[in-house]
Amino acid sequence: MPDQKIKTIGLMTSGGDCAGLNAAIRAVVSHACQHYGWRVMGIHDATQGLLARPLDYEELTTSVLTGNILRLGGTILGTTNRGNPFSYPMPDGSKRDRSGEIIEGYRMLGLDGLIAIGGDGSLAILQRLADQGGIPLIGIPKTIDNDVPLTDYSIGFTTAFNTAVEALDRLQPTAASHDRVMVLEVMGRDAGHIALNAGIAGGADVILIPEIPYRIEPIVQKILALREQGRQHALVVCSEAARPVDGSAVRQKVDGGTRYGGVGHVLSEQISKETGSESRVTVLGHVQRGGTPSPRDRILASTFGVHAVDLMAQGKTGRMVAWDKRGVVDVALSDVVGKTHSVDLGGTLVKTARALGICLGDE
Ligand code: F6P
Repeated sequence: MPDQKIKTIGLMTSGGDCAGLNAAIRAVVSHACQHYGWRVMGIHDATQGLLARPLDYEELTTSVLTGNILRLGGTILGTTNRGNPFSYPMPDGSKRDRSGEIIEGYRMLGLDGLIAIGGDGSLAILQRLADQGGIPLIGIPKTIDNDVPLTDYSIGFTTAFNTAVEALDRLQPTAASHDRVMVLEVMGRDAGHIALNAGIAGGADVILIPEIPYRIEPIVQKILALREQGRQHALVVCSEAARPVDGSAVRQKVDGGTRYGGVGHVLSEQISKETGSESRVTVLGHVQRGGTPSPRDRILASTFGVHAVDLMAQGKTGRMVAWDKRGVVDVALSDVVGKTHSVDLGGTLVKTARALGICLGDE
């Protein structure tokens, strides 16, 4: 029995963009408007839209279903991965708790519930806002990093992973033609899912992930062993947060803070010096985030969007939709926040990589 109180819901995308966000927006609007007859208010730039006065939003009607939104990268609602409302950076450099203004914005819009498409950081913030403001909230997990717990996949991961595999497919011919070691640095923040999946699928010889701190010696030995077997080239994939056992991840100074990036160059130089091989680096960066969503991400986004609306209709809020093995399920948001989903060191992919003779930097 649908919750008769619900007439208008809010919808936002929060955190870094990725492929498949628009496909999820499409699914929510389609199901909410066409099946339940609700109105959907698309809030711009995550919580910023509720902080703005006047409020920054647009009503999403079935007219968004007529275009090419399913295939469109990015998010038509805009997003941000800055400006935590509980510690909001003010122009004078101070930090202020502005959560009350966001909850006030939610009420001004006359919303009966909120569906938020976000990663672990965003969902944690939104869950806190929901608790404080009594907001019925449903989360939809998205992130190329695939580090949201209790879901096999988050929207955006498969597209990013496919992009990294394509990069390896393009780098291999140059590696082979020029007898080079090609190093590919991929994103993923503190989780190595993109590197591990892409490395196996793309035939990498070395895969370095944050969960397994590396030593340079096994990497050098692997490249020398390949040479002994008559192969003069190699493919190395490293996560942006890969770090040596005796050091820390490489970070760049930006905007008063730091950001992962640069480990590929460090490794390339070390490999070249220790093996005498010529080496080149490709940093894939935001190429992994944009672009047309993979068919798998479209399926995930569509399924998640529909299930999120159904949960809202049933009054089952405080939940996050999730993918479990072969289908959609939902889990308590409180079981998700504050946790992360790292690469399982005893899991299938790590075992497979080792069995294939791929060097993971530790042995
Ligand atoms: O969390 C997604 C992600 O793309 C990470 O893989 C990466 O470290 C980070 O966001 C980059 O953030 P920004 O777009 O702010 O540079």
